[in-house]
Amino acid sequence: MARITASVYTSHVPAIGAALDLGKTTEPYWQPVFTGYDFSKRWLAENRPDVVFLVYNDHATAFSLDLIPTFAIGTAARFEPADEGWGPRPVPPVIGHPELAAHVAHSVIQDDFDLTIVNRMDVDHGLTVPLSLMCGQQDPAKGAWPCPVIPFAVNVVQYPVPSGRRCFMLGQAIRRAVESFDQDLNVQIWGTGGMSHQLQGPRAGLINREWDNRFLDRLIAEPEALSRVPHDEYVREAGSEGIELVMWLIARGAMADIHGGAPPRVVHRFYHVPASNTAVGHLILENTQ
Ligand code: DHB
Ligand code: FE
Repeated sequence: MARITASVYTSHVPAIGAALDLGKTTEPYWQPVFTGYDFSKRWLAENRPDVVFLVYNDHATAFSLDLIPTFAIGTAARFEPADEGWGPRPVPPVIGHPELAAHVAHSVIQDDFDLTIVNRMDVDHGLTVPLSLMCGQQDPAKGAWPCPVIPFAVNVVQYPVPSGRRCFMLGQAIRRAVESFDQDLNVQIWGTGGMSHQLQGPRAGLINREWDNRFLDRLIAEPEALSRVPHDEYVREAGSEGIELVMWLIARGAMADIHGGAPPRVVHRFYHVPASNTAVGHLILENTQ
């Protein structure tokens, strides 16, 4: 049986990818950001999963206004880093896990969640920056990240976006799906994006430290109540792009305590401003059973 052993939560700021790719990680502006992930890289090396189920959002890269899937699962064997206007990031391709992805698609769709199945797509900074933060900079010649990754894209760019509640319930369906897969796999689920940021309009540059930290507290201790926060509160309090945080509820819904198990262990928590226009938040939660 496959098991979800831990969940990881992190922001995905594209300038973090550029800082890594251009060798700027020790510069005074960036050094405090990367310090927050020193523990995480060691932890991931010591707790390497067989598969990462990576919940992220595409930024009009693979999808556009022509086609807007609310939830899309990547079932391909391989996903290339996308060209977002400056050429693809110099990172390895993402190797998928088609068998588990196809199983999750089958189970979750039969569990009443509509997923779009994606057999071909490139992956943008929403997916590659969290991988770089957690795995460290990788030599593209190595040919792969440390483990297979199932990309799971959520529409948080074009309204209407899914509610936090639906994301939380989808996470529960993903857990049921993973646990009904007959191979013995250690699976981590990552929720990415956020925290507070607004990239356009009169409130561009908005950061809300208090709201972000309360979100982290509640994600740990009262995720069910947090999932009922309406999308307009995210936009009002955390900025227009703060809505990316609903994706963290998918990962949280897949943890053991939501299914009658023990509360997760908080193994790491980090919060830092500034990083480009975004407040960087990061959590690692381990299931204890
Ligand atoms: C920034 C943050 C994002 O989430 C994004 O998708 C693009 C840019 C930023 O902080 O600059
Ligand atoms: Fe983003």
